[in-house]
Amino acid sequence: MIAETVKWVGGVNGVLELIDQRQLPDRLEILRIRSVEQLYEAIKTLAVRGAPAIGVAAAYGPLLALHWLAAGEGPPEALEGVVKACDYLASSRPTAVNLSWSLGRVCARARSVAGDAGSTIEDLQEAVLAEAKAIHAEDVEMCRKIGANGEKFIRDGFGVLTHCNAGALATAGQGTALSVLFEAQKKGRQFEVYADETRPLLQGSRLTAWELQQAGIKATVICDNMAGFLMRQGKIQAVITGADRIAANGDTANKIGTYSVSVLAKHHGIPFYVAAPSSTFDLSLASGEGIPIEQRNASEVTWMGGAHIAPDNIDVYNPAFDVTPAGNITAIITERGVIVGPNPDRIRTLLG
Ligand code: MRU
Repeated sequence: MIAETVKWVGGVNGVLELIDQRQLPDRLEILRIRSVEQLYEAIKTLAVRGAPAIGVAAAYGPLLALHWLAAGEGPPEALEGVVKACDYLASSRPTAVNLSWSLGRVCARARSVAGDAGSTIEDLQEAVLAEAKAIHAEDVEMCRKIGANGEKFIRDGFGVLTHCNAGALATAGQGTALSVLFEAQKKGRQFEVYADETRPLLQGSRLTAWELQQAGIKATVICDNMAGFLMRQGKIQAVITGADRIAANGDTANKIGTYSVSVLAKHHGIPFYVAAPSSTFDLSLASGEGIPIEQRNASEVTWMGGAHIAPDNIDVYNPAFDVTPAGNITAIITERGVIVGPNPDRIRTLLG
């Protein structure tokens, strides 16, 4: 990766730098985020995207809120500002649980410091920055471990299909699904990757293909409706994707189209792997039925590259995610180990 997907520059009054993923693959531009509103907008419009990356980026949001404190405000007012910023940012995208998980962590740390007798605004700022940096560093480490735990599933001569982007651009580290491929590459394994283009926002062709090309991994872009034919032709030996939220029974929300790919993989007897950190599990939900699915603007479907590709006023349904039932998943690869044949018992045992 030429630049870091998420980077905090400076101390408590620093700036959040994000790769503007809306511009890729044409331009590598860095966005400088100085307010909670700018961060909300960056998450909402997918300048920063991917479950772990939005979790890490949002963790710095409360710090941005503290930049704008009025003179004379003390820890109680500052805490109010932090909580407001957390609630606001958490509402930007509903499906990826990493967002509310990381904001919850930062908020809890802020509450505990603000509750200490004699604590100052500076203490609060330092504590929020430390928590955000801890979440950031943990994400980098989780990515590496997911890769190390999953690389054995990618063998010489494999064709591997992936959907959306679960690479370095979707995390603060080297990705989840793509981390598995990067670690297999480091072992000297020869394989090739098919990247579903991933309509409507093309994260596969714009971002995954770009990352794989940079890493020197043989990559081929296909339209989403081609995956079944490639499987039938024997070109695919494994499917690997990331996840936005995994319920207690292993049902997994990921980018729209993932469910269809899982059905195709099951039909063709091809293993289907999900790579995700433990922060992507939501054990409060018994099954995928309870996962909120983000609905996005119709224009994402009716326009492409500045051109109208559907008639005016046509009805559009644009769910950004779908849920793959646990029964279609061969294994979930986490930083703590691999859950083969995910079910509630195995998931609880691994996550503790
Ligand atoms: O809408 P996006 O681009 O944020 O969707 C991203 C995905 O669905 C990823 O596969 C998922 O967040 C995992 S990223 C490691």
